[in-house]
Amino acid sequence: MQYIDYGEGGGPEVLRLATAPTPAAGPGEVLIRIAFAGINRPDCGQRIGRYPPPPGASPILGLEVSGSIHAVGEGVEEWQVGDAVCALVPGGGYAEYCTAPAAHCLPVPAGCTLAQAAALPEALFTVWDNLFERARLQPGETLLVHGASGGVGSTAVQLASRKGVRVIALAGSAAKAEACREWGADAVIQYHDEDFVAATHALTEGRGADVILDMLAGPTLARNLDALALDGRIALIAFMAGAQSTIDVVPILRKRATITGSTLRPCSLAHKARLAEALRREVWPLLERGECLPRIDRVFPLADAAAAHHHFESLRHVGKLVLDCQTA
Ligand SMILES: NC(=O)c1ccc[n+]([C@@H]2O[C@H](COP(=O)([O-])OP(=O)(O)OC[C@H]3O[C@@H](n4cnc5c(N)ncnc54)[C@H](OP(=O)(O)O)[C@@H]3O)[C@@H](O)[C@H]2O)c1
Repeated sequence: MQYIDYGEGGGPEVLRLATAPTPAAGPGEVLIRIAFAGINRPDCGQRIGRYPPPPGASPILGLEVSGSIHAVGEGVEEWQVGDAVCALVPGGGYAEYCTAPAAHCLPVPAGCTLAQAAALPEALFTVWDNLFERARLQPGETLLVHGASGGVGSTAVQLASRKGVRVIALAGSAAKAEACREWGADAVIQYHDEDFVAATHALTEGRGADVILDMLAGPTLARNLDALALDGRIALIAFMAGAQSTIDVVPILRKRATITGSTLRPCSLAHKARLAEALRREVWPLLERGECLPRIDRVFPLADAAAAHHHFESLRHVGKLVLDCQTA
């Protein structure tokens, strides 16, 4: 099969089409003929050598795919050859074929294109795990979303607003702000133009946000504590603004704050299978009604993965980028 190799690692230009043996489905796995693969920020981290795949995972880039089941491994009964699925994978997505644990596959929702389906798993598993489970986000609460125009952020905005949460989105441009409003954000703060802490307090009668999705950390973590309501929760999923934060702990005590963190890729097979079940129950009915579908900013042929990473790292995208894996 053809796949995207990143050689010794480096900038987007290291991404090249190469050939490797097609993997085989092991026990409990399926082999997927990939239609599209979603692009995620951890792919860039892996490309530059800062985010190695966990033990046992494919060394090929790519954490989410859509396509059709090409073969099933021993013990797999819930999927048949030919079924259209999307899947969370621990690696291997930038290719024509990849294996996936059967329990991490979900059916392509009716009315969802295969390109959109490839953009579902990574963001949905992350948002469900961090906001709805770890941070216990409830209807009627206020959620503040950093990076709201990106893959994870846009999913958080759409899903939370459909679940009766009041959503305040942070956006870096007018075009991104407009997209956040279309996805259901109740208010958008263009954080380059106004102070997001003051704006959050102004929008919540001084209460602050009940839950904050923080993918920046660094100096932003202290500011998020300032923007947090009493009994508030901060869900940390990344540290795009820096891994080191200096914070005053007093507001954590005074606000009875909870700071949670997690990273999806190394979570156990069982944990991800449980998340897949929760998504099927809680989110798939929305997707089947045409709600919460991802916005695809651009589709790139697999062979143009370098251009796709270039575009992704320019931060101009709104929503998700995907690779068309059958055009290699
Ligand atoms: N913990 C987990 O399990 C998990 C799972 C998936 C993803 N993640 C992480 O979550 C983060 C978001 O992922 P994503 O796929 O949504 O990425 P994305 O599509 O690139 O979106 C990130 C958005 O954040 C905003 N941003 C603000 N400051 C930034 C900075 N210093 N660098 C980059 N972006 C900045 C940008 O929007 P504006 O221009 O509007 O500010 C950007 O569009 C990534 O760091 C990713 O690795 C974590």
